[in-house]
Amino acid sequence: MNKAKRAAVIAGNWKMNKTPKAAAALIEEMKPLVADADCKVVLCVPAIDIPAAVAAAKGSNIEIGAENVHFKASGAYTGEIAADMLVEAGVKYVVIGHSERRQYFAETDQTVNLRTLAALNAGLTAIVCVGETLEQRELGYTETLLKYQTKMALTNVTAEQLKNVIIAYEPVWAIGTGVTATADQADEGNGFVRAAIAEVYGQEVAETVTVQYGGSMNAANAEELLSKVNVDGGLIGGASLKAQDFSVIVKAAAQ
Ligand code: PGA
Repeated sequence: MNKAKRAAVIAGNWKMNKTPKAAAALIEEMKPLVADADCKVVLCVPAIDIPAAVAAAKGSNIEIGAENVHFKASGAYTGEIAADMLVEAGVKYVVIGHSERRQYFAETDQTVNLRTLAALNAGLTAIVCVGETLEQRELGYTETLLKYQTKMALTNVTAEQLKNVIIAYEPVWAIGTGVTATADQADEGNGFVRAAIAEVYGQEVAETVTVQYGGSMNAANAEELLSKVNVDGGLIGGASLKAQDFSVIVKAAAQ
């Protein structure tokens, strides 16, 4: 296993936080703090914030992501946003299948797959989220579920397209709860994801895919989590809303 084969990516997931003005201000605050990052730095922001975020990040090493994308190119889908709209707005990444979307907005493994394909076909990098609930973990289904979700999300994704896929392992019980997976649990979960990729695409390809951990990653625990061989980065919720904390996580990814 060789961590150097894959890019370290720290991505913030702002969820439904920050108005456009507040988004621009936070990015201005972050820019000098992450300027010397030795990893990719991404901020996934609410759709309405994208123009302000792209403008604020211009000329810096911060890239902007969206938090969702629809799987159709256009049409009668009120409230939805197509991949080419995101691309034209300057978006490079998109979070797909976050557990909050699975839980509150009826996202399924099938729609996660369709959204992933739409994102990849438009040239976006997809950050695909997988993760087990506490109940599923306690029943002993973590490995089965993570492999299933990973393979379902990647249905019909070619090995070439996989170069633009990041998988984020986010145990549902660790998201926004302050309960972080231990570094060993994160490494194990990420390892299950990588094993699923290896079963479909082969070990060599699997070793090149960035697998993030997400779920209460913060300035205090990031270094230990990111030191694990299968943890190639983080998807950060709460701590990505604080410039100082986020920059500490970014710095931890470089070590
Ligand atoms: P959290 O969220 O860091 O606030 O737990 C992570 C996520 O949901 O991506």
